Amino acid sequence: MGFLPKKKRRNVGLDIGSSLIKVVDLETGGKGAMLHNYGIGALPPDVIVDGEVMDREVVVDTIKGLFASKGITKTAVATALSGRGVIVKKITMEKMREAEAREQIRWEAEQHVPFDISDVSLDFQIVDTESAPDQMDVLLVAAKRENVTARVNLLQEAGLDTVLVDVAAFAIQNVYEANYGFEPGQLIALVNVGAETSGINFVKDGISFFTRDLSTAGGDCSQRLQKELGVGYEQATEILKGESLEAVGMDQLQPILRSFGEDLAVGIERTLPYLPSSDETRKMNRIVMSGGGAMIPGLADFLQERFEIPVEIIDPFQRIEYAPDLFGPQGPKSTGPIIAQAIGLAMRE
Ligand SMILES: Nc1ncnc2c1ncn2[C@@H]1O[C@H](COP(=O)(O)OP(=O)(O)OP(=O)(O)O)[C@@H](O)[C@H]1O
Ligand SMILES: [Mg+2]
Repeated sequence: MGFLPKKKRRNVGLDIGSSLIKVVDLETGGKGAMLHNYGIGALPPDVIVDGEVMDREVVVDTIKGLFASKGITKTAVATALSGRGVIVKKITMEKMREAEAREQIRWEAEQHVPFDISDVSLDFQIVDTESAPDQMDVLLVAAKRENVTARVNLLQEAGLDTVLVDVAAFAIQNVYEANYGFEPGQLIALVNVGAETSGINFVKDGISFFTRDLSTAGGDCSQRLQKELGVGYEQATEILKGESLEAVGMDQLQPILRSFGEDLAVGIERTLPYLPSSDETRKMNRIVMSGGGAMIPGLADFLQERFEIPVEIIDPFQRIEYAPDLFGPQGPKSTGPIIAQAIGLAMRE
């Protein structure tokens, strides 16, 4: 995880969010990674609901439009799934070699996955062989096969070949590690604040401990603004983006944004007890946010005060370069967090 392949190659990452579809064209290998091109296409509300595609045509057309307008001709893409059809779980198994574990994993998974095991795609990673004398910790990843197939078919309709279906949380972990590395022993909460969900992934020493999706996300914040301020969807989105703040007035805005921040904080807090008990402190050292919602005005500062730990918004361009003029004079600051997941996808071999 997190190492760039040596051979130069171009990879396309495609992140289908419930409100924004992101595509990136990334060169990896050689001296490092370089973003050559990216595109972001907005989806109307109700096209993707609860992670389910309600209107295939709109999604397919949006993807096609993005590739065409950005002149991206490569059709092999890496994409990600998240939500209820995907399960990431740390389990313990009898100590054995990887090849053996590969044969056993389906049987092991049966006890941990709430779907019929014949209907899931499985993957795993041995993460700790030292935790107990005869046992090892394994990170189990299971995805409903129908979800994987549905995604592959959807992309096929858009003229694309799926070369990788990753887990969204891991794509973000990937881009985080490539840009920041990991400090030994530090518990980092990667929080991807999207439109429908905020995905949390607790990572320590490069290993994911636990992932969870919260519904406190950008869309929820937008709805609160609409309700409390009596504004429409468009204006609420502008406010989220920090535009037209003066028109509304900070006095009115602040309590709404704070109560949203507090709910997100409580959501994060409630997942802490699920961390492995071996990690006695269960104390986060840092929160790193990604997704469009990471930039909700004041959110990072609020969480920083609330948890009394550093909270930052991910910058995927700490160590990844980008083509000159790609972002114009304003630079990549407000785009980086939104395309972070797509970049993480494109970095996978
Ligand atoms: N600059 C910005 N500042 C604050 N919020 C923003 C900004 N840009 C977008 N948003 C909000 O972030 C959300 C979109 O972010 P993102 O693209 O990460 O979500 P998504 O991937 O479409 O959703 P999900 O992952 O939940 O399916 C929307 O709610 C949008 O209003
Ligand atoms: Mg998203």
